[in-house]
Amino acid sequence: MCGIVGYVGPRPSQDILLAGLARLEYRGYDSAGVAVIDGGGSLGMRKKAGKLAVLRDSLADAPLPDGSTGIGHTRWATHGGPTDGNAHPHLADDDKLAVIHNGIIENFSALREELLADGVVFRSETDTEVAAALLGRAYADNGGDLQLAFRSVVNRLEGAFTLLAMHEDHPGLVVGARRNSPLVIGLGEGENFLGSDVAAFIEYTRKALAIGQDQIVSITPDAVTVMDFAGTPVEPEPFDVSWDAAAAEKGGWSSFMAKEVAEQPEAVANTIRGRIKDGQVVIPELEGLDELFIGINRVIITACGTASYAALVGKYAIEQWARVAVDVELAHEFRYRDPVIGADTLVVSISQSGETMDTLMAVKYARERGARTLSICNTQGATIPRESDAVVYTHAGPEVAVASTKAFSAQITALLLLGLHMGRVRGAVADASVDVAELAALPEKIAKVLESEHEHVTQLAGWMADTRSVLFLGRHVGYPIALEGALKLKEISYIHAEGFAAGELKHGPIALIEPGQPVFVLVPSPRHSALVHSKVVSNIQEIRARGARVIVIAEEGDAAVLPFADEVIHIPLAGAMFEPLLAVVPLQIFAMALATAKGLDVDQPRNLAKSVTVE
Ligand code: M6R
Repeated sequence: MCGIVGYVGPRPSQDILLAGLARLEYRGYDSAGVAVIDGGGSLGMRKKAGKLAVLRDSLADAPLPDGSTGIGHTRWATHGGPTDGNAHPHLADDDKLAVIHNGIIENFSALREELLADGVVFRSETDTEVAAALLGRAYADNGGDLQLAFRSVVNRLEGAFTLLAMHEDHPGLVVGARRNSPLVIGLGEGENFLGSDVAAFIEYTRKALAIGQDQIVSITPDAVTVMDFAGTPVEPEPFDVSWDAAAAEKGGWSSFMAKEVAEQPEAVANTIRGRIKDGQVVIPELEGLDELFIGINRVIITACGTASYAALVGKYAIEQWARVAVDVELAHEFRYRDPVIGADTLVVSISQSGETMDTLMAVKYARERGARTLSICNTQGATIPRESDAVVYTHAGPEVAVASTKAFSAQITALLLLGLHMGRVRGAVADASVDVAELAALPEKIAKVLESEHEHVTQLAGWMADTRSVLFLGRHVGYPIALEGALKLKEISYIHAEGFAAGELKHGPIALIEPGQPVFVLVPSPRHSALVHSKVVSNIQEIRARGARVIVIAEEGDAAVLPFADEVIHIPLAGAMFEPLLAVVPLQIFAMALATAKGLDVDQPRNLAKSVTVE
């Protein structure tokens, strides 16, 4: 939700801001804007509704005078529609001060009333302009000390925010603050950067500093200072970014999504790497932390969206291998009831971005209630891992497309590793060698699905471009994959799609079946359970009898499904817990191909943003 970039240094800032915004555009694409303090010390600003390209065109037609201090913003609208006026930056102090913001200022109405009573005239419907006006007033009250004024303002704000500000009286200075919303520092030589995430400045530096909760940062070309909201200096935590700019480029692919789907073998291999030792799963980050897993009687996995479907696969694996009860909770439901948790509960959060507000709040809530916390995250320096007792990073590399694909596979992989690690630590798994071998074989099998089924599934999607509704059925670990297949299709092709547990069909959803209704059915291997397999085959017959068009995903050699399927998509043989990583691939390709056939933008679907940093 909203991408933020700030720059101070010797180079003209506009190109740096626009390049940063291009890399952050996945966070929101309702509008974009930049503000720059030019060489003469004047502040210039341009902002436009629509994607970044609209702003670029406007700047190309009528360039802003450039300078070496600037801030830029790409917006996912919350307060006020996606208009030029509501776009950021927002100005105050006779347009000498510019502010950008990510998040929601919850007390903005009261602050707005106060400012209106003071004679302030607002030009937008946003909460951000309230912060800008407040800062303008505080700047005057504090004798033109921007840092002091900024600190007084952030202390008055409630809710979630990352704010950046600059004033034309102070070229070479950008100030920022964060509460429950992301902001990282990029360290250059004689130049410094701020960004919602490292993608904002990855082209220029891979050296970064994490900023903690409720902290304020000031950057000049030669210095970075961080303090808490009370003004006490803080030492920010350094980290190196393990990927480079090329990893966040499309690199010849038609879309980021296409690239990321294809990168799944590598994402899974990188997540496994270094975590298998002597035929056992040993996660180095968890060494010395066995007490997280011993003496617990319950695991709760909390996440949102695609990550919550990975969590459901994790439930099956952790219960089987670690012999402990596992519940999966949507993060936004978890903290708004009164869950029974305590010191004997391990709360595992999953988040690609590490910044999803709902998930972050669930983690904080769990900690307050005395639970142990562990996060599975794909983004170094993100807030959720820093709020957790332990973290297992997925190494999927940067995921840019809004629809999550390779991060999902890496999350399931991390959960499988966690299940086997916990099983060993808890003494519940005597011999994990077969499962460890299955894990190690996954990248190659995923690559095989990509190679063998890409064309077939793409063709299928082309034939179905006019379809108005698609259903997905699965049992056991196939159930979360049915949910994920439906979500992928909904979010990028805007087609109605539903995922169901196959056994639930007769309890209602079968009423949706009419002649020609396409239904994807995930068929588990009969080698794992002849009983579960036969139940799914019966479910297929039930929908076929009512005219459904059945597309089956089944392992190679499963002859039992052939007489009842209109189409069969084959996946290689794999252990029960490992099948989801193979079965999801055709569903991702299907969603992508169908959206492409409809002429839609698969990377930036309507109404969505990659990182949901508001509740
Ligand atoms: O960054 P997170 O993993 O916490 O994000 C969670 C969901 O917002 C995310 O998975 C979302 O559902 C994706 N758009 C799915 O493709």
